[in-house]
Amino acid sequence: MRQLLISNRARITPPSPIRKLAHLARKAKKAGTHVYHLNIGQPDIASPQEFFDGIRRFDQPVVAYELSQGNEGLCNAWSGYINRTLGIATKPEQFMITEGASEALVFLFETCCDPGDEVIIFDPTYANYLGFSTIAGVNLVPVLSNMENDFALPGREKIEECITNHTRAILICNPNNPTGTVYTKEELQFLFDICEEHNMFLIVDETYREFVYDDLKPLSIFHVVPDSSRVVVVDSLSKRFSLCGARIGCLVTTNEQVLAAVLKIAQARLAAPTIEQFAAAHMLETIPDSYLEGVRKEFLLRRDILDAALRQVPGVTASKPKGAFYTFVQLPVEDAEAFAYFMLDEFSHEGKTTFIAPAAGFYMQSEQGRQKARLAYVLEKSSIEDAVATLAAGLREFAK
Ligand SMILES: Cc1ncc(COP(=O)(O)O)c(C=O)c1O
Repeated sequence: MRQLLISNRARITPPSPIRKLAHLARKAKKAGTHVYHLNIGQPDIASPQEFFDGIRRFDQPVVAYELSQGNEGLCNAWSGYINRTLGIATKPEQFMITEGASEALVFLFETCCDPGDEVIIFDPTYANYLGFSTIAGVNLVPVLSNMENDFALPGREKIEECITNHTRAILICNPNNPTGTVYTKEELQFLFDICEEHNMFLIVDETYREFVYDDLKPLSIFHVVPDSSRVVVVDSLSKRFSLCGARIGCLVTTNEQVLAAVLKIAQARLAAPTIEQFAAAHMLETIPDSYLEGVRKEFLLRRDILDAALRQVPGVTASKPKGAFYTFVQLPVEDAEAFAYFMLDEFSHEGKTTFIAPAAGFYMQSEQGRQKARLAYVLEKSSIEDAVATLAAGLREFAK
């Protein structure tokens, strides 16, 4: 049979760097090795009881399609929750419920850009942005940020020199995955001003908004720019409420044109999951604010434990993240990906190994990430300590 062709788009879509080594982890586990997953942002914290109560309360005889724009009760509850906890004034009709933040981002690339258009991101970046943009035929244009200054935003000149006639948006994730950087009011205003000047959208991915540490308070772009039609927020219940598998996210904007255009795309995919939306609405209406405060404190503890443990490992430099639940590390190896392979394929210490995410996959200029890795502090305290001890043993062995 002649070979059937697959699309160029499918061929150039990059595999997730986080999942790329997963087959080796499975193999190690089959061989009886315990694998500490510091590679993926899947929190181990229990999902809220209020969500499961919501599932139990679903009493319809048919699991029908939801509205394409999302369950009305969920739009009301999400808007109410944001307004109450952040002190801002969104309206339910500004929400579009999606299958996770992931689908919201695909919708936005498809809505704000034509194929061949460009979106500016900051390198390193959340790796799946590359997959989402490729699906929509959009080119991401990276502006490099540096570990030496905690991945602060590059200066205006550096950003503006990347803007062309095809640039449609700046996309930023705040707090940042993979770096843990939290951008300030001034930095968000700075990005908004650039977008104003060059007539671009500002898309802010606030998936980790509540996970901020030390003296920081959750900051939304809506605090800085409450009602600009060029601002779109992408949000998700995945991390905040340990509901990664529920697949519930949203986009929020005052821009009615964007909402109407996204709705047409959303209608083509019919709807996001019915029961999960129902349960999420119940959860947001009933969950006490203390839930999130407890989760935030737990991640703060884990951050500090990871940071202290990493500082004991010879040759490792770690940035101390201010938000999200990721730490970027510089490793004393030539090639962090080869080291990650080694850890899963060849190494174990007392029957255990540690799975790290090599950073090259988070950089569009992948050479920049060659000696770096991202660690997710999503495990409980003693596992983090043991995972770092295992990592240190692996580094010693790798150096031999
Ligand atoms: C920055 C960022 N945006 C979006 C997503 C996707 O989240 P969701 O599960 O809501 O699709 C993730 C998931 O890791 C993420 O880290």
